Amino acid sequence: MPCTVVVCGFFGDTGKGKVISYLALADDVEVAARGGVGPNAGHTVVYKGQKYIMRMLPSAFVNERCRLLIGPGVLVDPDVLLREVELIGASGRVGVDPQCAIIEPEHKERDRKGHLKERIGTTGSGCGPCSADRALRIARLARDEPKLKPFLADVPLEVNRAIDEGKNVILEGTQGTFLSLWHGTYPYVTSKDVTASAICADVGVGPTKVDDVVVVFKAYVTRVGAGPLPGELSQEEAERRGWAEVASVTGRKRRAAPFNFELAKRAVMLNGATQVAITKVDVLYPECKGARSFEDLPREAREFIGRIEKELKVPVSLIGTGPDVNEIIDRRGELGLKRD
Ligand code: IMP
Ligand code: MG
Repeated sequence: MPCTVVVCGFFGDTGKGKVISYLALADDVEVAARGGVGPNAGHTVVYKGQKYIMRMLPSAFVNERCRLLIGPGVLVDPDVLLREVELIGASGRVGVDPQCAIIEPEHKERDRKGHLKERIGTTGSGCGPCSADRALRIARLARDEPKLKPFLADVPLEVNRAIDEGKNVILEGTQGTFLSLWHGTYPYVTSKDVTASAICADVGVGPTKVDDVVVVFKAYVTRVGAGPLPGELSQEEAERRGWAEVASVTGRKRRAAPFNFELAKRAVMLNGATQVAITKVDVLYPECKGARSFEDLPREAREFIGRIEKELKVPVSLIGTGPDVNEIIDRRGELGLKRD
């Protein structure tokens, strides 16, 4: 495990929160750092019967030993962050880099009108306008925000030190590969790159320090907001298949399409995937619900996973079989992918 980057290979909402929270417990991760854009993310974690939607803090919070860091590339909404710190009662283990840019109320106003709302269909969380101000060198930083004083920490230093000491570290990405400002369906994208390399840069970890890149795909594809979605189903058909999800941050309906092998192959390339996680297999094949071993999956599900491995040429190491942290098949041992 030592340093693992977890990113999404489609358009976000593939279950990174679930995969990361599982890894945090299974591998006893000591340091987790959020990269990615900012509070436009909504990572769902279901743990001990409670559902959490994390927008700022790493999903690894379920491991109470884990340090929870936010890298300097991430945009911070102080109110969202403080609410999450309180929700999970974790103030002692949260660290925010002084160089994180601050989302101001005015950024949210600009994000909720005009072309960002009407044409792009953003989350309205202020991320695009804040990214723009940061590029213009007029954004305020976390070091200037009194509410964040108790949390300030040199995140790149902490993360690199943990890696050098051989601790298990997770770098958590946000959004999805095809929402990347560089590699996605421009202009229907988010305001930064969100591929694995960008997540490393966001937290200040060089490429030679990374051991694994886990790209998370859902068993079908969803997208919220405007932009192309190849093979998009009608709303009725999406509902019939149980794929008509509701967005965790905005409450909007997610558009849906079948698993897309071409996009998945490109995501594997763009992120340098060493492993792939497939989530919500139980939505495609209900008999999979709660399965913990590959042998317990019905034949169609095993064939689906086999086809993914054949086409993507990357092992499917984790398979999500339900929303709970522990509803997952972890094949890393049997596939010889465990690192110490
Ligand atoms: P923004 O990131 O809020 O500027 O939104 C830009 C586009 O990315 C819109 O289509 C959003 O719906 C989409 N988007 C941003 N964050 C997420 C996410 O976490 N999950 C899914 N879609 C997202
Ligand atoms: Mg989400």
